[in-house]
Amino acid sequence: MKQNVLSKLGQRTAVPPISWLMHAALSRPKLISLAAGFTDNSTLPVEISRKLLNEILRSPKTGQPALQYGITAGENNLRALTAKHLQKLDGGHDLAHSPERVLITGGSQQLLYMTLEALCDEGDIILVEDPTYFVFLSILQSRGIKARGVKLERDGIDLAHLEKVLERLKKSGELRRVKALYLITYFQNPTGATTSLAKKSAALNLLKKFERAAGHPIYLLEDAAYRELSFPGRADLPVSRAEQQIRPTTPPTALTLPGARDRVIYTGTYSKPYAPGARVGFGILPEPLFTTVQRIKGNHDFGTANLLQQLLARALETGLYDKHVAKVQKNYARKARVMKSALAENFPPSVEIWESGGGLYFWARLPKGISAGVKSKVFQSALKADVLYVPGELCYADDPSRAKPDNELRISFGSANEENIRKGIARLGKVLKKFI
Ligand SMILES: Cc1ncc(COP(=O)(O)O)c(C=O)c1O
Repeated sequence: MKQNVLSKLGQRTAVPPISWLMHAALSRPKLISLAAGFTDNSTLPVEISRKLLNEILRSPKTGQPALQYGITAGENNLRALTAKHLQKLDGGHDLAHSPERVLITGGSQQLLYMTLEALCDEGDIILVEDPTYFVFLSILQSRGIKARGVKLERDGIDLAHLEKVLERLKKSGELRRVKALYLITYFQNPTGATTSLAKKSAALNLLKKFERAAGHPIYLLEDAAYRELSFPGRADLPVSRAEQQIRPTTPPTALTLPGARDRVIYTGTYSKPYAPGARVGFGILPEPLFTTVQRIKGNHDFGTANLLQQLLARALETGLYDKHVAKVQKNYARKARVMKSALAENFPPSVEIWESGGGLYFWARLPKGISAGVKSKVFQSALKADVLYVPGELCYADDPSRAKPDNELRISFGSANEENIRKGIARLGKVLKKFI
């Protein structure tokens, strides 16, 4: 038959890079994966969830509504608890966090997808960090949206480069197509970088400056997926002393900035701090986006699974959520320290390492000219040595204005246990020493 039955989107949607990484992992049983951004199985809240689900399902009065459809925007109790939770994370700041502005979603991934559906037509442009979250790039690719990269520094995007990119787009007449700047502001995936509030503020002002020429708002899309995975102690201290340090507060969100109410889209998740299997995310969106995304969600699923929402609501209400997050933070801090010392012991000193105060990743940069890309000898040798990482090149958008660096690696301590972190880094170090 001559005609392709698939839609343009269907035809365009490429194989997600992560699916063959997963395949590689599954086909080698001895492989240690430092690739997946999975959370640690050993700290998933099985007992807490059993107890809370038992409470919910104990009587028809609480059980029946939990097993029924709910409302599209999310369960009102969870929306209120989420607003309160965000307020707490922002040090009591309550400017932007009224429950009516909170939309509950099936993970923050759904919110990112729906926001792009609401904002962008084919050919529109989203500015992204260079490098950024590769699944976000896959959404852009699938929907025919262009990405333009903005250089990333250890404390967030390079503001001078952001201005340059905006100027260039203005000159080429493309500014009208620019809809948003996407920033992963806490313990970024893939680099671990955290954006300072000063940078968020300056970025917001820059976007405002170019709005007149764009003819419409340019939103700041703040993805805070890893925000709650901050380490309780300082990574530079020995374990016993570091754990006595109080939890550092993360910078406030862009939502707290003047003018944010109409320009900042915030996405957060309960996946990383609680459980990805109870996939609940949330967002705060300015109008007219909130209403539009809510309508789109009506078409997607008319509401996130009620039982999961009730589970999260109970966890938050009872304080078990906070207790659990404290445990999770300690666990990741410990594993990050294990990885840090393994890196120091095994990696050649010419490899630049970005260390983070939270999240699930280290970012490693090999000396220029040594590729760690998918087709590189380094990656293939690593696979042969039964260790997997995410080639950094996958995290760079297709942006014709620059070449993609291919000498970087994302290395995760999320799902591997301490022994495998040590073994995996030793294997990787041996491979790198062959090429550096
Ligand atoms: C940066 C970032 N944003 C969003 C998500 C989506 O998470 P979820 O849909 O589970 O909330 C992820 C998941 O890995 C992520 O790394």
